[in-house]
Amino acid sequence: MINSQNLSVNYYKKNGFLIIKNFHSKKLINQIKKDIFEISFELYRKYNPNSFPVKYSSETFDKFLLQAKKENLVEVTSSIYDACKKIRGFYQIMGNEKILDLSEKLIGSKKIGLLNRGFGVRIDYPHDRYWKARLHQDYTSQLGSPNGIVIYTSLRDVKQKMGPVLLYSKSHKHGVFQTSVNTQKVKEKKTYDPYYVKISKKLIKSFKIKYLKLNETDIGIFNFLLLHQSGFNNSNYIRWSLIHRIFDFSNTQSIENNYNGGLMEGNIYNSKKHEKFIS
Ligand SMILES: [Fe+2]
Repeated sequence: MINSQNLSVNYYKKNGFLIIKNFHSKKLINQIKKDIFEISFELYRKYNPNSFPVKYSSETFDKFLLQAKKENLVEVTSSIYDACKKIRGFYQIMGNEKILDLSEKLIGSKKIGLLNRGFGVRIDYPHDRYWKARLHQDYTSQLGSPNGIVIYTSLRDVKQKMGPVLLYSKSHKHGVFQTSVNTQKVKEKKTYDPYYVKISKKLIKSFKIKYLKLNETDIGIFNFLLLHQSGFNNSNYIRWSLIHRIFDFSNTQSIENNYNGGLMEGNIYNSKKHEKFIS
């Protein structure tokens, strides 16, 4: 008998990604947005004591963050970013049994772990280029194991104008790509990221692009080795993504590296220490 989970696993293995519609409850997503709204207000009003509390609305839950960004209140924007990791709803998502059960099947292991420093939010501001993620694979920055998955939860319906993430379908089958470092654009303050994937134009053009247009309550899952990059947010809304990452404790590379996580744990990917991993 063909069941829908088997179909999903097969689709994921073939393409390197999976989108599940209406996965989360509206109640949970709304709770997260409300928490963001409330902590943003508390932090913003330290700088603007005259600001009035306004009623929460699901559409404008991030209005104080947007306002702080417009006023260039860096301490407020970065504090909100950090505080988002402390929101309880995030832990409900990471502990969600359905996600963990499915992850075992996608990863193909019963021994799965969560990268404890590999979760957080992406806040893609309107018209921002500096923080836009360039073409990359999550494995080289997150480590854990090359056999792992990234899980995206969106806090707002992502339309094309909002610059959905571009997934390069089936690129996970090419293993780990080498990277080079170029600090020129970092020095020019055009980007924060000095890493570039080494890949031929011919190969990158051969992949079909899938835009990760998630609606609120949907989840997107993709392989640790799938090439992807941020789209440009040309809308007036922040594109919010809650991201967490699951890896395979039984992977030999992972054991070799003592289950270390990546940059956030102070570990830099070193190609010499990593076997070529083909998904
Ligand atoms: Fe990524």
